[in-house]
Amino acid sequence: MSAHATPIPMIARRSPALTGVAQIPGDKSISHRALILGALSVGETRITGLLEGQDVLDTAAAMRAFGATVTRHGEGEWTVNGVGVGGFAEPAQVIDCGNSGTGVRLIMGAMATTPITATFTGDASLNKRPMGRITDPLALFGARAVGRRGGKLPMTLVGAAEPVPVRYTLPMPSAQVKSAVLLAGLNAPGETVVIEPEATRDHTERMLRGFGAEVSVEESPEGRVITLKGQPELTGQSVAVPRDPSSAAFPVCAALLVPGSEILVPGVSRNPTRDGLYVTLLEMGADITFENPREEGGEPVADLRVRHSPGLKGVTTPEERAASMIDEFPVLSVVASMAQGVTVMRGVKELRVKESDRIDAMARGLEACGVKIEEDEDTLIVHGTGRVPGGATCETRLDHRIAMSFLVLGLVSEEPVAVDDGGPIATSFPAFEPLMAALGARIERR
Ligand code: S3P
Repeated sequence: MSAHATPIPMIARRSPALTGVAQIPGDKSISHRALILGALSVGETRITGLLEGQDVLDTAAAMRAFGATVTRHGEGEWTVNGVGVGGFAEPAQVIDCGNSGTGVRLIMGAMATTPITATFTGDASLNKRPMGRITDPLALFGARAVGRRGGKLPMTLVGAAEPVPVRYTLPMPSAQVKSAVLLAGLNAPGETVVIEPEATRDHTERMLRGFGAEVSVEESPEGRVITLKGQPELTGQSVAVPRDPSSAAFPVCAALLVPGSEILVPGVSRNPTRDGLYVTLLEMGADITFENPREEGGEPVADLRVRHSPGLKGVTTPEERAASMIDEFPVLSVVASMAQGVTVMRGVKELRVKESDRIDAMARGLEACGVKIEEDEDTLIVHGTGRVPGGATCETRLDHRIAMSFLVLGLVSEEPVAVDDGGPIATSFPAFEPLMAALGARIERR
């Protein structure tokens, strides 16, 4: 669903201590994959804890358009009756993936080796993002894509009638590209191999195995070598979606910064391909304890107890950690601005092609709030002084994480921080406002 909705201006003000329990919604990455793998399976997939953000709802609608039966039974409770590997029907309408790069890239991968044609579009943000990174490897399977100049949506993909398997080394650390290639490999004969020089989130590999595919992962001098045996029969599964560590990041960082806070955030994924923010916060001196570690929905999880942490220190995040916290740099830059000393975020150029250019969006907004910033193509540097003047309205650029990051900043800056549009928050974290309000945060619509 393309968002041309009226902007929702919002403002955050200095807040009293945040307290209570923050029940974070389901993981966005795993929610997309549960719907897509359910659609590619034979039989019924039962999903609990599905994130009902707009991005995921758009993927659910797309799976219906490709022939799967997708039904909502209650909050987070969904079933998918799939069409099997290679069974996608040709959609009669354009597929609108809204704001979601993950949705469009994984779905294009999933249809690329089936002889059907589909046209994809999205909102103003998604239609600016690069698709060549997936159409290049999908062409190796025999699929053909025609899009706008620069490989942008709207774009038509003609699936390969006689797909061949592929061996592909990722040119950038991207779980979306890796996943598009693996999903395309499902309907190719033989073995499809993806080599990732830097590890990225591994939900696709874990879930493909769970649905019955043969996937092996080996560490080699070139990186992780992932091998998928093509044309498996996937069978419907029960998927319990764990809570999203990328959404948890906002209340967690808010509680670290707001004096007197103590919150509990149950069941947050500790998957090592997703926990770079938490590693970094501990290095900065954050008071976070990981209680009751266990496994849920095939992912390692723990309950996070987070206390206000005065005296956070600036740190350097190394390039090799970037992929494991790629969605968390905006909120880390907020924490960094309230810490003492310089925080250097290295190897972050992928942030330039997210829902917005997140380096530019954070740099301009933080500067407007009185924070000293340096940046180059691949690095963001925040000079923290332990206090932020605030008092600005920051542009969110159709980017949910930019909106939530600046609203967290406004809880501790001297003057309030406003955002021009909080509407995009609904793509990933529709319950953000009531959840933050219940903890005591002063975030309002204007
Ligand atoms: C995602 C991968 C990441 C991340 C996005 C979700 C996924 O994108 O930023 O929010 O679910 O595979 P890239 O693969 O482009 O790094």
